[in-house]
Amino acid sequence: MNVVLLGAPGAGKGTQSSKICEKLGICHISTGDIFRKHIAEKTPLGIVAKTYIDKGQLVPDEVTVDIVKERISKDDCKNGYLLDGFPRTVAQAEALEDFCIIDRVIDIDVPFELLLHRLTGRRVCPNCGASYHVDFYNDKNCSSCGETLIQRDDDNEETVGLRLNVYKRQTAPLIKYYKKAGVLVTVDGSKDSEDVFSDIVEALK
Ligand code: AP5
Ligand code: MG
Repeated sequence: MNVVLLGAPGAGKGTQSSKICEKLGICHISTGDIFRKHIAEKTPLGIVAKTYIDKGQLVPDEVTVDIVKERISKDDCKNGYLLDGFPRTVAQAEALEDFCIIDRVIDIDVPFELLLHRLTGRRVCPNCGASYHVDFYNDKNCSSCGETLIQRDDDNEETVGLRLNVYKRQTAPLIKYYKKAGVLVTVDGSKDSEDVFSDIVEALK
């Protein structure tokens, strides 16, 4: 099964992705995580991607599409994959159709006023990628691997504002796009994380 997870920054895409992939036995592909790995390793792609990500802008479509195309051709994607944060523009969705069939698109819908709080309070593990919120988790270290948690560079209030504007202008039109294609299911992402997961599991049946 090939799934796309849509949703604004902070909607809970990363939080739900790991659970969905574990349940369905499919591969998790997050373009944001791929870019952050390149940035940490200071690769040529990482150096270019950082100039966009730091400003809350999208990395150009042609760069992003090639990365996804290459990633889903790998063996671990044979049983299916979940795309987290891709596509993010109509041009990316159109390009994706040339090399993959999407079975279901889940849109995690969260009111905008909640998103800023979720993102500025998020702490992530640079080692295993686990994500926490200061409201629910006070420890300075990751509960899975023990690494010191960090705040993402783009989770400051100013950059979050820019990311939310980019979402409204460039990504939200995909809701209509996938509704028209008949593959979209919207879930209420403001619920408790476990309830959101149950709704997603139901939507994937
Ligand atoms: P990316 O890493 O994809 O970031 P994003 O889309 O902005 O989304 P986030 O990862 O910030 O949020 P999330 O929905 O995963 O929320 P999470 O589960 O962590 O992309 C980063 C950048 O890379 C982009 O800005 C762009 O520059 C570039 N990029 C990536 N893909 C691209 C593409 N396709 N094209 C071009 N450029 C691209 O949850 C957030 C917080 O809320 C956490 O603290 C979590 O614990 C908490 N939380 C989650 N669910 C709940 C809940 N139900 N209740 C309470 N709290 C919750
Ligand atoms: Mg994420």
